[in-house]
Amino acid sequence: MMQRRVSNANESKTAEAAPPAQRHLAVQSPQGKAPESTDNTDSDSVEEMPLDIGNNYLVRRADNKWHPAEIIQLRFNETESCYEYYVHYEGLNRRLDEWVPKDRIMNSKFQMTDKEQVNVSDSIEDQTGRKVTRNQKRRHDEINHVQKTYEEMDPTTAALEKEHEAITKVKYIDRIQFGKYEIDTWYFSPYPEEYGKQSKLYICEFCLKYMKLEKTYRYHMSECTSRQPPGKEIYRKGPLSVFEVDGKDLKIYCQNLCLLAKLFLDHKTLYFDVEPFLFYILCDVDKHGAHLVGYFSKEKESPDGNNVACILTLPPFQRKGFGKLLIAFSYELSKREKLVGSPEKPLSDLGKLSYRSYWSWVLLEILRDFRGTLSIKDLSEMTSITQTDIISTLQAMNMVKYWKGQHVICVTPKLVDEHVRSNHYKRPRLMVDTSCLSWTPPYKAPPAKMAKK
Ligand code: ACO
Ligand code: ZN
Repeated sequence: MMQRRVSNANESKTAEAAPPAQRHLAVQSPQGKAPESTDNTDSDSVEEMPLDIGNNYLVRRADNKWHPAEIIQLRFNETESCYEYYVHYEGLNRRLDEWVPKDRIMNSKFQMTDKEQVNVSDSIEDQTGRKVTRNQKRRHDEINHVQKTYEEMDPTTAALEKEHEAITKVKYIDRIQFGKYEIDTWYFSPYPEEYGKQSKLYICEFCLKYMKLEKTYRYHMSECTSRQPPGKEIYRKGPLSVFEVDGKDLKIYCQNLCLLAKLFLDHKTLYFDVEPFLFYILCDVDKHGAHLVGYFSKEKESPDGNNVACILTLPPFQRKGFGKLLIAFSYELSKREKLVGSPEKPLSDLGKLSYRSYWSWVLLEILRDFRGTLSIKDLSEMTSITQTDIISTLQAMNMVKYWKGQHVICVTPKLVDEHVRSNHYKRPRLMVDTSCLSWTPPYKAPPAKMAKK
């Protein structure tokens, strides 16, 4: 099977070197057999023949590697006078789906067998032949953004997932202009009709108004007076500020924020019903204004005990510590509320990595210095992290045992030390300075029944 893929790759080189008419003819040839000779000069009619939706091809990704992919949609690019294809790379997160021109699609169509699909998703066993634990596999899959297949999901999740994919299969908005950044988008977002079909949207980084034309945007930027999120600044340390915005008071702003966020979130359905939520907006402040870096939303009343609904760092600012800063911030709010909380499920692959990294660090930080006995409940009270999240984090570090019907912490100083020296323990680059947080929990009527957590 691998050999066939290698030979396809070689054919592709030939195909790429060939003049355009040949290249496109070759695309049409079945099962990877390039035509012997192609004297066809009627290149126009050949160029017009689009590839079929639903077929699998090898497609060249941005890193120049070929990856099996399915064609999901096609569109005609008027400027370039050619078709473009929306492809989903097998086994990879849908955020990597993209529009590609025909010359990034290998000349031969092929159907993958199940075996090949496993091979291409780079599972650990395939690469090294080594047996791995479920935890290692999960971590590997998270880090490499490997998507679960329908077969791996329970039937209800699989059905919901299929429906979700059917609605959000194609993302038309490829890019946004946001302040000084042009950002590639990741997922579909339900911008109203004519906006949703643009390949590029222009968004005011301060008021979040979205526009189709650069001209309108430039005019707006010269007119718009807002330089920071609306709402109340509740945190300020150095250049970093957090604003609290109530969805009820500032509906349009919050809806626009949700539409923007959806471009980078796969599974969130909140766009228009923003009233029951508060939004915490993290900004980097300079002399031009408070630039939105990321945010999280939070239900005013969460029957499930969630302290975060959605969390996002905009791509240009990712992997700089802002995500874990926002996570830490959400737990500081919960501490002040004297509640425990957990992020809303499902978590995305990047969400899981960030939360795991935060939880592991917080717990190791306590266990490292603690002498005496600690229960999971104690840890939960100290951190506002739910017992469930604490248990799963400790399990991943082999620090918990199930004993007489309950989970108990089981650590030795040596084990803690090992983890402190491993990558489970990464001191966050940015930390919340609680002395800079001016926030008291809003009054809430006591719940009828304590939520079990
Ligand atoms: N590849 C591998 N690991 C990653 C990646 C990546 N691309 N991005 C983040 N991580 C991991 C790392 O472990 C990192 O910690 P490190 O300091 O050990 O490297 C950790 O996640 C968090 O890194 P931060 O820089 O603090 O977080 P960031 O600002 O990148 O934000 C976030 C993380 C919010 C999840 C961001 O990736 C994002 O916005 N993603 C898109 C939206 C999303 O998926 N949100 C979560 C959905 S679930 C929910 O909303 C409840
Ligand atoms: Zn504006």
